Amino acid sequence: MIYRIGVLVLLGIALIGCSASKDGDNLSSSRDTLVVYKSPTCGCCRKWIDHMQEVGFETDIVNKSNLSAIKKQYGIAVNAQSCHTAIYQGKYVFEGHIPAKMIQQFVDSPPSGAKGLVVPGMPIGSPGMESGSRFQPYKVWLLKENGEYSEYGKVESYEEQFSENKAY
Ligand code: CU
Ligand code: CU
Repeated sequence: MIYRIGVLVLLGIALIGCSASKDGDNLSSSRDTLVVYKSPTCGCCRKWIDHMQEVGFETDIVNKSNLSAIKKQYGIAVNAQSCHTAIYQGKYVFEGHIPAKMIQQFVDSPPSGAKGLVVPGMPIGSPGMESGSRFQPYKVWLLKENGEYSEYGKVESYEEQFSENKAY
């Protein structure tokens, strides 16, 4: 019995130690580089990259006139494709005009079995696709390792793409 209590106490200390070190991490400064594949002439891609940089992501830009090979390599279905494809840590993929805060949320705690996030097409008013006051609501999809998609979040207004508080 005494032995068992000892084990529990040790376990408790280990867990406290674990959460303390995580809190101490500065996530934005320890973030890995996002490698963005885009066509050389894409203006909305460039604006989306600026949006990512504003929240602290470092980016490497790879200009390619044909992006189908990279999309195929990361398993982005044809009907889910957008203009640019971003790769993180060589394993996660972010397709299209996803709000930076959702990518941030994903990389901070990747759901198990998840491969990345996808916004198909190019919704008007999404980051990099600004067009005056126009806004087209859109969904962000979670791409799983088995190739399936499930809904990760819904964006219903322009403002919530940037607000701190909205929980997707
Ligand atoms: Cu675009
Ligand atoms: Cu793009």
